[in-house]
Amino acid sequence: MLNIVVCVSGGGTNLQAIIDGISNETIKNTKITGVISNNPGAYALKRAENAGIPAFCISPKDCGNREEFNQKFLDKVIELNPDLIVLAGFLVILPKKMIETYRDRIINIHPSLIPSFCGTGFYGLKVHKEALRRGVKVTGATVHYVDEGTDTGRIILQKAVEVLEDDTPEILQRRVMEQAEWVILPQAINEIAQADQK
Ligand code: GAR
Repeated sequence: MLNIVVCVSGGGTNLQAIIDGISNETIKNTKITGVISNNPGAYALKRAENAGIPAFCISPKDCGNREEFNQKFLDKVIELNPDLIVLAGFLVILPKKMIETYRDRIINIHPSLIPSFCGTGFYGLKVHKEALRRGVKVTGATVHYVDEGTDTGRIILQKAVEVLEDDTPEILQRRVMEQAEWVILPQAINEIAQADQK
């Protein structure tokens, strides 16, 4: 069994895709042992609770400084003892110690075809705004391992999505989620879970 911890900051539609994938068995041999958010208002926490998954909020606002936050966050992850950490719309720079402790055991979903529209400042809707501004005809999503850089780790899966004439950032974001993110994130977790069994 692959035990995973999912880190979230917002709506949690990718978390939902993982929860659904486990229940309909497109993701096999996998259990979510906990969901952690930095944002107390994240709807993702509600999704976790609805699915009966332990959900925790560790907010930088409740910590005296960044070091305290980093330590509390790392302590919670260690307590949950994951084989894999999944960043599903988690908009926090990970503590260096966490990357070292969990090397090759942290994955992230990014809403573009890396190396386009990624790195510092590229997250959420901003990615799609920039893709439209640049006029690309194809975009997509990427699942990759997390290393010390921003969106620089080894790529696991990518899926392309067409950009259409009248797209707004919101419409494009939704299409990328539906056609790419909610497909390749569960798929990557399943592949890691199957490899873990061997
Ligand atoms: C997703 O589109 C995800 O790819 C993106 O944030 C959104 C979270 O949505 N992540 C990044 O931009 C990371 N750089 P969700 O909370 O509904 O899953």
